[in-house]
Amino acid sequence: MKSQHAWFTHHRFGLFVHWGLYALAARHEWVMSREEVPLAAYEGYARRFEADRYDPRAWADAAKRAGMRYAVLTTKHHDGFCLFDSELTDYTSVNTPYGADAVSAFVEAFRAAGLKVGFYHSLLDWHHPDFTIDEFHPRRNDPDAVALNGGKDFARYREYLHGQVRELLTGYGTIDYLFFDFSYPEHSYRQPGTGAVLPGKGRRDWDSEALLALVRELQPGIVVNDRLDLPGDLVTPEQYQPSGPMLAGGEPVAWEACQTLNGSWGYDRDNRDYKSVNLLVRMLIDGVSKGGNLLLNVGPTGRGNLDPRALASLAGIGTWMELHDRSIIGAGPSTFSAPVDTRYTEREGRLYVHVFAWPFGHLHLPGLAGLVAYAQLLNDGSEIAFSADDPDQVAQNTLPGGQPPGTLTLQLPVQAPDVAIPVIELTLCD
Ligand code: GLC
Repeated sequence: MKSQHAWFTHHRFGLFVHWGLYALAARHEWVMSREEVPLAAYEGYARRFEADRYDPRAWADAAKRAGMRYAVLTTKHHDGFCLFDSELTDYTSVNTPYGADAVSAFVEAFRAAGLKVGFYHSLLDWHHPDFTIDEFHPRRNDPDAVALNGGKDFARYREYLHGQVRELLTGYGTIDYLFFDFSYPEHSYRQPGTGAVLPGKGRRDWDSEALLALVRELQPGIVVNDRLDLPGDLVTPEQYQPSGPMLAGGEPVAWEACQTLNGSWGYDRDNRDYKSVNLLVRMLIDGVSKGGNLLLNVGPTGRGNLDPRALASLAGIGTWMELHDRSIIGAGPSTFSAPVDTRYTEREGRLYVHVFAWPFGHLHLPGLAGLVAYAQLLNDGSEIAFSADDPDQVAQNTLPGGQPPGTLTLQLPVQAPDVAIPVIELTLCD
């Protein structure tokens, strides 16, 4: 990453917000495509979008308390509905009962809370008349899809896309991050009925090179993701945890896993598949130990508030972050190898041992003998004793056998501290 992007790998933990008309349907942000909802019916949600509980300061507060340092809002999702006041369409939050530019209130609130601000912007658009029907489009199974496509002028859509990106990057001050979504050049759809083929879309369709150049020209410091079908400033694994550092051309790259609370990005009322706070904290730690960020999503309701389940998840993470954020923020992977059931992060001469499963009595750390000046539990700063035992020691009754040369052995209390994931902070010798 370029040095102007250093904040991104430093900050490590961000809030993703998926909010739009789909929050009213409350059954996944892809509802329009999944259920092949006719445009006129879907547009009806715009007349119901009151957002009377929308208070982005409350969102920012919840994010900040969770320990997050940046936030990314859906300015437009695949359904084409815009949360900002665009001169290029009427299909925006301004023309709803809510009646205002939701993006500007968001930007203001998050900036005031001291968080970096990012935009998610969909390359797909199921509302624009010139966006051709493809595999993901709600009209993909219409027998006349090919004929309809014949009447569309995709160049006009491309101009609209570039025009809206220009609006977003000129109307709201400094934008720190742009998350484009997504490209699918390999996805051709063969209609089951007619056998007609509807091609996917990629860099040539979006004119990604020109779009990226426009972004960099308008916001020279911005971080841009990798979904334009061109390499970006980072890679964006979605809904899975990479098994190790991510590479591009054999070199480690900046990455950010985007993750949901319950598998859905948009508000999904009846979906109870919530990840536990303990799991979310482990995902955050695991990512940082492999050089990655976590962009954790919430899907506010149609009224604009965060539902209690989302708030509880953020609050639970915040309880942990309050005492442990120095093992995350500004931290990165360690060159030492962590023993089973632990993850290491390092920051400014300190090595953080995150203990996923609390062992009885001892924790053996390979290769660290002689390298540690002090050890403490991070939650309460209580000292942890350690030793480097004679590798040749023979096990006898209560005397454990020796460990491989170079092993540092920590002496742990029987009771794990009462935190989601205990962390032992090792101050390394100079
Ligand atoms: C996807 C989905 C989407 C979600 C996004 C988040 O590609 O289409 O609904 O917004 O990823 O990364």
